Amino acid sequence: MVIIGIETSCDETAAAVLQKQGDRVTILSNVVASSAALQAKYGGIIPEQAAREQIKSIIPVIEESLQLSGCRQQDIDAIAVTFGPGLIGSLLVGVETAKTLSLIWEKPLIPVNHLIGHFYANWINQLSAISYQLSRFNREDRRLTTESSLPKFPCLGLLVSGGHTDLVLFTDHGKYQYLGGTRDDAAGECFDKCARLLGLPYPGGPAIAAEAAKFKVKSSKLKIKLPRPLINEKTFDFSFSGLKTATSREVERLKKMKQFNNETIQQLSCEIQEAIIDVLLEKTIRAAQKYNVEQIIVAGGVASNQKLTSDLKLKIENLKLKIRLYVPPPELCTDNAAMIAAAAYYQKPVKNPYAIQADPNLALTL
Ligand code: KG4
Ligand code: ZN
Repeated sequence: MVIIGIETSCDETAAAVLQKQGDRVTILSNVVASSAALQAKYGGIIPEQAAREQIKSIIPVIEESLQLSGCRQQDIDAIAVTFGPGLIGSLLVGVETAKTLSLIWEKPLIPVNHLIGHFYANWINQLSAISYQLSRFNREDRRLTTESSLPKFPCLGLLVSGGHTDLVLFTDHGKYQYLGGTRDDAAGECFDKCARLLGLPYPGGPAIAAEAAKFKVKSSKLKIKLPRPLINEKTFDFSFSGLKTATSREVERLKKMKQFNNETIQQLSCEIQEAIIDVLLEKTIRAAQKYNVEQIIVAGGVASNQKLTSDLKLKIENLKLKIRLYVPPPELCTDNAAMIAAAAYYQKPVKNPYAIQADPNLALTL
């Protein structure tokens, strides 16, 4: 079964063609056009501007995804589209385009929750995602895709993106329980806002990670300590806005002391990253133990943070937990349409595609 996925919830316009044979979901093409460079100029996303960019990119991106996949319109079995949550102007572009294609091509339409989509990046044959890139250079590497391992149920999902920080317990496809989430800023949003305070570019996550990697602990004379919000609270909720405020105060303090320089920016970056990781790890491991899961799936843009995933792996090993960790390759962590098509394999098409409405506030509830 071949599905074309369409994703336009924020500032990425994405289309991907995937194929499922038995249990194996492979990527035939995965195209992402991002207006992030434009957003970077303004230090963040301007919704109207993001929507205008979506309109410009949607048709060329869909055409390119078809062309790269080697599929024609008649080879497509279904269309999957993100219908929420996200920016309404951006969402409308994808949803209305998908409805129109469904009508013209006479193909079923499957609406996908963007947040659920992020988790399904873990149901794409992970080696296939790697070898998909390799295969452009060496056809032999495609053989790697025959070995795959997909997450099993029950599994704990940690979603860490620009708009969301959620812990979800999955017991089957389409069956899940929301355990907790952020009460204010999301982890990615915290990275972005703190980066701005440090004068680093947007998106802030990769910028902070890069600065943190340069920091040499031994050479630092200053003590910089930021809070780990809600780390000892029993719930699975998060709160990152206090961390942003504490960072702002620390920046002011350093400026007054004339100590706000490259070195302290690196030190602050390191502490911001550590603080976010400490809280995420503590709650994730606690939830995994409480619900007795042997699998953790991580998803969302922040999951491409290497320190986060290597620290999580280390913590699982140090605690001698029998937990297998799944993390998508970086290009499937940030917004893409392959994850939307992947999620659609486990859902049913709607009876009336024309009734689908973009829902900017769609939540993680069934
Ligand atoms: O999932 P995503 O592409 O979009 C949303 O659905 O929100 O996530 C974007 C977020 C941004 O906040 C960005 O700063 C963060 O993911 N991000 C990272 C890294 N790469 C992207 N955060 C930390 N470390 C990274 N390497
Ligand atoms: Zn996303």
